Amino acid sequence: MPKKKLNVALIGCGFMGRTHSNAYLKVNRFFDLEYQPVLRCMCDLNEEKLKKFAENWGWETTETDWRKLLDRDDIDAIDVVSPNNTHRDIVVAAAEAGKMVLCEKPLAIDAGQGQEMVDAVEKAGVSNMVWYNYRRVPAITLAKQLIDEGRIGRVFHYRAKYLQDWTISADVPQGGDALWRLDAAVAGSGVTGDLLAHSIDTAMWLIGGVDKVTAMTETFIKERTHQATGEKQKVTIDDACAFLAKFNNGALATFESTRYARGRKNQNTFEVNGEKGSIFFDLEDAHQLQYFNHGDDAHVHGWRTILVTDSEHPYMDHWWVPGCTIGYEHTFVHALADFLKGIETGEPVRPNFRDALDTQRVCDAVLKSAKTEVWEKV
Ligand SMILES: NC(=O)c1ccc[n+]([C@@H]2O[C@H](COP(=O)([O-])OP(=O)(O)OC[C@H]3O[C@@H](n4cnc5c(N)ncnc54)[C@H](O)[C@@H]3O)[C@@H](O)[C@H]2O)c1
Repeated sequence: MPKKKLNVALIGCGFMGRTHSNAYLKVNRFFDLEYQPVLRCMCDLNEEKLKKFAENWGWETTETDWRKLLDRDDIDAIDVVSPNNTHRDIVVAAAEAGKMVLCEKPLAIDAGQGQEMVDAVEKAGVSNMVWYNYRRVPAITLAKQLIDEGRIGRVFHYRAKYLQDWTISADVPQGGDALWRLDAAVAGSGVTGDLLAHSIDTAMWLIGGVDKVTAMTETFIKERTHQATGEKQKVTIDDACAFLAKFNNGALATFESTRYARGRKNQNTFEVNGEKGSIFFDLEDAHQLQYFNHGDDAHVHGWRTILVTDSEHPYMDHWWVPGCTIGYEHTFVHALADFLKGIETGEPVRPNFRDALDTQRVCDAVLKSAKTEVWEKV
C-alpha cells in the first residue's frame, strides 16, 4: 500500500530543528505506519542558516516568514521549534488555518498564552502534540508500565532533579541566537520552564496531577551583557529552582533544577517510592531502569538494574537486537511515530496541548510561590 503523505512545515532550524528533521526522515524506516511525513518546507528568520539547513536535511522549500505557510495548500502540519515567545502566535494562526500543530515544550511563556493555544487547537479540531520527548525514553515508558501494572502500589514519594552547568560563568552573554534561554522576555522563565517542565510532565504522567507547590528560586548572576546590543542588562530568569509539591493522590514530592551544578551536563533523574516497590531513572544512563520489588523473597531483596533493550520493552522491537542501546534522538522518532499512529487510528496522541497546559500551570504556580513565599494551589 502506498503511504499517505503528511506534508510538514518545520519552524526553527536550531537544536530542535535537527532532532525533528532527523525524526521525520527516520520514522517510516523503523515504524510501520500509514502516514509518511514529507519534508515540504523549512522556515527560519536567518536566511543563510536556513538554506544550508534545508539542503543538509532535504527540506524541499524554504520560507523566512512563517505567516506564508498558513495559506499553502501543500502543507498539512506545522511543527513549531522556535523560541518560546513565538509559540502562541504561530500555533493559534496555524490552528485557525486548519493545520495540524506540533509544538516544542514549554507550551508557551505562561498559562495565559497556553490557554489561548489550547482553545485554538480544540476549536479547530486539529491534531496536536507537544514534544515532551522524555516520555518516549523506553526506560521511562517502562516505568509508566510498571506503575500502571500496580507493581509499586500506592505512591508515597516522588523525587526529581534536572541539573546542568553551562551558565556558571558571568561572561556568558544573554539574549539572541542560542542564548535566548537566558532572556526571560523570550524564554518566559529560566530552569523552571526549560528543565523542570520536563520533570513535571514526566511526574504527572507517571503518578497524576499536582495539587499545590511551594518554591524558591535564585538568580546567581544578576547582570549579563546582551549578545545582540552589547549592553549590560539585569538577568530576570531563575538560574535555579527547588520546590515541594503535594500531588492529588497525597504523594509528597521534591523537584530541583539548576544550571549551576558543576559537572552535571543534562542530569535528569527521578525516583518513585511506593508501598510495594521503588523505581529510579537517570537520563545519563538512559538505557537502564532501577527497580526494587519488596515482593521478592527477603533473602534476595535488592535494587535490580533492568537493561531496557529487549523486544518486550517499549519501542525496542523497532530497533536493534537485545543489548544494543539507543539514545536521545530516538525519543523524537518515538514521539513522531505515536503522533502519526494517532492520526491513523483516530486515538489522539498524548501529551496534547491540554496536557502541556497542565504542566504550564504547575510552572506558573512554582514561579508565583517563589515570589509570594507561600504554598500556591495549581
Ligand atoms: N524537547 C526538548 O528536550 C527540547 C530541547 C531543546 C529545546 N526545546 C524547545 O525547542 C524550542 C527551540 O529550542 P532550540 O534549542 O532548538 O533553539 P535554537 O536557538 O537552537 O533554535 C531556534 C531557531 O528558531 C529560529 N527562530 C527564532 N524566531 C523565529 C521566528 N519568528 N520564525 C522562524 N524561526 C525563528 C532561530 O533563528 C533559530 O534558528 C524551544 O521552545 C525550546 O524550549 C526542547
